[in-house]
Amino acid sequence: MKISLVQFAPQLGQLQQNLNQIKDLIQTSDGQLFVLPELANSGYNFKNREEALGAAEKIENSIFLTELVKIAKDKNCLIVSGFCEREGGQLFNSAVLLGSNGVIGCYRKLHLFLNEKDIFTPGNLGLPVFDSKIGKIGMLVCFDWMFPEGWRKLALQGAQLIAHPSNLVLPYCQSVMPSYSLVNRCYIATANRIGSERDLTFTGQSVLTNPMGEVLLKGDTDKSQVLSAEIDLSLSDNKYITAKNDAFADRRSDVYGDLNPEND
Ligand code: ACM
Repeated sequence: MKISLVQFAPQLGQLQQNLNQIKDLIQTSDGQLFVLPELANSGYNFKNREEALGAAEKIENSIFLTELVKIAKDKNCLIVSGFCEREGGQLFNSAVLLGSNGVIGCYRKLHLFLNEKDIFTPGNLGLPVFDSKIGKIGMLVCFDWMFPEGWRKLALQGAQLIAHPSNLVLPYCQSVMPSYSLVNRCYIATANRIGSERDLTFTGQSVLTNPMGEVLLKGDTDKSQVLSAEIDLSLSDNKYITAKNDAFADRRSDVYGDLNPEND
């Protein structure tokens, strides 16, 4: 199957402009799965909570998600997008997986970065893995990268690909992805944004890594672009590193605990 990472600069509070950019970029690829950056509907660096509330939408009646579902229908594809989500009085920094029939699943960022702590509520939906027509997909958002437990838990639940909408500002994340892919034996698709907002500059370099820890795609630091590659998600089901070492079966959870909910 073909996966496409969409790298661009969402504009703060400009939902329609962001949708237009996304539509133009997605039209250039025949990918079966598109991954967009974190907070792709709203931009990132809000002055305060009020500004973020003004840019957020509810999943049920979101103009942004309705338009993405239309694109998914037209192109017969799946899309993962970062999404500034409002539910009641709470704001979540979410990632949404959707297809031609609508929203398939939602993940809410667990680990909030810097000023996000003054704006968003930490995720309360756990770490779900969703079955889709292309395979099993988990999601993490940007700064979640710092916490290896999330990647591990999704992989232990069978995620073949972890989609990772991002607005990265620190320089380290892209270099860690090959290792997370390798030790968890799954694909990771980090779609990062570019550009600057107020005092933050985002680092681009969207990256796709495979279960062997190889970098299949790497974006530029400052260009809007769609990066595409053919991948085989069944490779993620093979956890053997040698004939006698299954990276998951060999775990010593008796010593360091078990993140696999099936064994709780
Ligand atoms: C980040 O979590 N957006 C750095």
